[in-house]
Amino acid sequence: MTTLLRLGTFSPSVLLEVARVTGALHAAGLAVEEVPATSSPAQFAELLAGDLDAALTSPDNVLAYRFVADNPLGRTGDVRVLAAVDRGLGLSLFAAPGRSVPGLRGSTLAVDVPGSGFAFVAVELLARQGLRAVGDCPVEALGATPRRADALLAGRCAVTVLNAGSDLRAEAAGARRLARATAIGPYLGTVLAAHGPAVDADGSAFAALAGVLIGTAARLVAGELRDVARAAASRRLALDARSAARYVATLTDPAEGLVPDGRVDRAALATLVELRNRHGAGPPLDVDTVLADGVVDDRFLPVGFRANGRPVTTPAEPGTPLLYVLRGDLGLLGTRFGCGSGDCGACMVLVDGQPVPSCDTPVESVAGRDVVTVEGLGGGRPHPLQDEFLAGQAAQCGYCVSGILVNAAALLAAVPRPTETAVRAHLDRNLCRCGAHNRMVRAVLRAAERTEAR
Ligand code: FES
Ligand code: FES
Repeated sequence: MTTLLRLGTFSPSVLLEVARVTGALHAAGLAVEEVPATSSPAQFAELLAGDLDAALTSPDNVLAYRFVADNPLGRTGDVRVLAAVDRGLGLSLFAAPGRSVPGLRGSTLAVDVPGSGFAFVAVELLARQGLRAVGDCPVEALGATPRRADALLAGRCAVTVLNAGSDLRAEAAGARRLARATAIGPYLGTVLAAHGPAVDADGSAFAALAGVLIGTAARLVAGELRDVARAAASRRLALDARSAARYVATLTDPAEGLVPDGRVDRAALATLVELRNRHGAGPPLDVDTVLADGVVDDRFLPVGFRANGRPVTTPAEPGTPLLYVLRGDLGLLGTRFGCGSGDCGACMVLVDGQPVPSCDTPVESVAGRDVVTVEGLGGGRPHPLQDEFLAGQAAQCGYCVSGILVNAAALLAAVPRPTETAVRAHLDRNLCRCGAHNRMVRAVLRAAERTEAR
């Protein structure tokens, strides 16, 4: 069964398009209809009314419509951040073609709305150019980013902030990038947001959407799907080939691009809160209070890690053994279930190079880490240990062998030429019911010789 979600967006989402083209949305049982937002009040009115299921929006909008009664909508609601999506995608202050900073005095600064979203970035970056919003540059609400890009290029405003491809389009047409949001500090440009009561009623579709977006982001950041992303950027944002390539480079930029694990980091939230306190009209906010209030509802975030060098995500609940995820979700069947209690070693994998029993390792503990299973031991070809185990027929039923290979690989990585005593002591954690130990120890020693000889 496919669940249809209506997702509000300010700029067409290339990330979502990549997820669609690669089949990730379909595989998660989702179809997503993008609903272009004309402005943040319009987007949040739809979200609170249930006309939108979720939104890709500025996290500052979530702060405004959750905490500030005097927001552009005139009311607050239980809106929440479910996942961080990107760090601004090139968010920058732009001057219209032919305009320079000294000539901006008295000219219009365009924002979505003055009281939320990217407006505070615009005001801050303008101040760093020596100009005051309102005082030096009258502020006008011209709506969502693509609309402001059109207005800038048509001369209906002199300065504004742009991102997500609109910046590249404006630059190609002669607009001048004056300063980047990254100059202010760590930042979040886009989050996945939803209405709390809808999330509490049934979180499954939100969890699936967060999983797809973050899984796709992780693959892009790892260098996969570049051609797909370039084509999607050309198609959705009307960018030429050069600009599409720049867009994809921005997507994967650590400071401005996608957030591969979907986590809202405190430093970026602090930047948003500081900007709001400095330039907003509402009562001052405090990061700790904001977080304690539950604005970030990240219980649906998938756990992301690298399995044999490949970024993967899993929606498995906290506490799920890593072994179940490897075998059940990722199809890495070389890792075996033996005792299930950390005693036999059949399920051993490497986590950041250290051998651990995956049956006894909660999946959330490997978030952001490198997991290597027996399938990835040789990095794409057989590890010398695997060659020597085969050559020496160092197994009987074979059930314990993947765990022993992984554990032995950890030993050889740390001690390239171990003694027989050291090998026996190290493999003491691995049980072999068939009693093939002696052949295995000999195979490990031969692999050590061979590796050293290379
Ligand atoms: S199955 Fe994990 S140690 Fe036995
Ligand atoms: S070869 Fe059978 S358990 Fe080790």
